[in-house]
This record gives sequence, structure tokens and C-alpha cells, in this order.
Amino acid sequence: MNVHAPALAGAHLPDEQTTAFARDAIDDLSQRPKRLSPKYFYDATGSELFEAITQLPEYYPTRTELSILRDRGNDISAIIPKGAALVEFGAGATTKVRLLLENCAIGAYVPVDISRDFLQGQADVLRKDFPGLDVYPVAADFSAPFALPEAISGLPKVGFFPGSTLGNFEPHEARAFLRGARRILGEGAQMIIGVDLEKDERVLYEAYNDAAGVTARFNLNMLVRINRELGGNFDLSAFTHRAIYNRDRHRIEMHLISRKSQTVRMLGTSFAFRAGESIHTENSYKYSVERFTALARGSGWTARESWTDAAGMFSVHALVASD
Ligand code: AVI
Repeated sequence: MNVHAPALAGAHLPDEQTTAFARDAIDDLSQRPKRLSPKYFYDATGSELFEAITQLPEYYPTRTELSILRDRGNDISAIIPKGAALVEFGAGATTKVRLLLENCAIGAYVPVDISRDFLQGQADVLRKDFPGLDVYPVAADFSAPFALPEAISGLPKVGFFPGSTLGNFEPHEARAFLRGARRILGEGAQMIIGVDLEKDERVLYEAYNDAAGVTARFNLNMLVRINRELGGNFDLSAFTHRAIYNRDRHRIEMHLISRKSQTVRMLGTSFAFRAGESIHTENSYKYSVERFTALARGSGWTARESWTDAAGMFSVHALVASD
């Protein structure tokens, strides 16, 4: 029996996603150390806050990746076969894919995202702006196997995974994702992928501890979501955002730190916090070009080309499916 069901019903109508959120939140807050999954950052407010993060002066990844895609437009278009189907894993803002659609002879675009409504809106805009382009949205969780539309079966396939989203996966998850993408895209496929690079720790620290406090609001929004959707009673002023660089594990870690000893309730379950205790909410792994290409090599892909900006902040890789 699901012991949380009555409390959940009292908090909200338990649709499938809310139930998964409830289950994960209770399991993860019962761990030592406590944690919450970063996939729950992105409700409407979280997505808006993330968009705001990408505009911050300290958050270099988005604009640096865009500059690489822009500056290397000719190199990228030389790699992409004429009439290829571009399969984007997770469809965010259209800014990055537009650069590829403008520069390369792409025949079909397949955005894959869990949110059907978001996908539909995005597909409509792109169809209008690129009248010759066939757009086939796929509503699916891109971290699990899914089928490509029949209509693109005869076209060469190019995967697109920008934004260093791969960095939010644990290394074993990153390998599983790359292997899965290789299976879905098939023989002869290619992949364009953006990966954030290791760098001066101060630059990394500031990118996740911005002066305006937007990243702190993004992190705390997880608790806002639990309060609203799961009937939690987190006191937001009793938790603080902390992001640190873990040098040994090559990753930024985001935490929510309890400012005092306290008990929080959610769905009929109590969670005790010590003063200073953390909820670990996100890892953002940073790679060197060599470490990333080795990871790709062990996961069914060979690096064909790797591009970085002049300051070596961010990298974009063209991978080819290995035989
Ligand atoms: C989406 N992802 C690549 C972002 C990152 O940099 O790891 C999420 C983020 N977390 C805090 N700031 C941005």
C-alpha cells in the first residue's frame, strides 16, 4: 500500500508526475546525506529562473556555447550531411538549434522532450520561421529508450545535446545516455554535444553564486515546489543556498543548508534537520576535452572534432557513432 497516498490526495490531485515527485522526494530526503533530484528544478518558475541564470554576467556557459556554435558554423555545416534529421535531446529555448537550422542543410528537426505542450509550441514557431523544414516532435523522456518517427527512417541522423546538460548526469548516467543515444540514432549517426570545461575555480564558484542571487532562488524553488505540490511546510528563510567546487570529483555541487535544527513535514512524513545539515540538490560535472572524449569513446562514439572558445571555457564536440 502506498502510505503517502491519502496525504498526497489532500495536497493535490495526484497525477502521474506528482506521484513520482512525491515518491522521489520522500526517498531522497530519507537518505543520509539528504538529497533531491535536479530534474525537479524545472517547473514553470524554475524554468524561468534558469532562463534568467543564462543571462547573468557570471554564468558564462550559455553565451560561450552560442559563440562557439556561431563561430564554428561553417565547420559544423561541413560535417552535417545534406537533408539530415536533427534530433535534439531535450528541447529548451530555440536559440541554439536556430543557429544549426540557419547554417546547415537540415531536412527534418525532431525535438524530444517530456513536455508535450512545450514541444507543440516550439514546433509551431519553428515551422513558421523555417517553412521548408519538417518538424516531428516526440514527447518522451530522452534519458530512456524512445522510437524515432517513421518519417525520418531514411535520413542520416545527427543528435544535438547542447547546454552541458550532460554535466548534470553522474558519470555512469552520462555513459548510459551516450550509449542510449547511439542505439536510438543508429549506425552512421553523428552527435553535436556541448560540454562545460574545468577552469579557474573562482570563475566556477561565481557562476553558481551570482551576486543577484538568481541561482539561490532557483535552488530554493525546489522547496517552494514541495510546499505547493506536496503539501510541505519548508520555511524558506530557514534554508540557504550553497554552491561549492569539489575539485577531486570535478564538479560544482549545489546544496540547501538548514540554518537551524528543525523538523519539516511533507505528506505525513517528518524530516529532522540538524543545524548546518545539507540537502544535496545538484552536481554539475566539468570535463577536460580529453576526459570527455575518453568518456564518449567508452560509450559508442568517436570524437571527430572538438571546438572550444579562445579562453577555453566551454567545448562543443562532433561525435561519430563507432562501429
Ligand atoms: C542545466 N545545467 C547545465 C545547469 C548547470 O550549469 O549545471 C543548471 C544550473 N544549475 C545552477 N545553475 C545552472
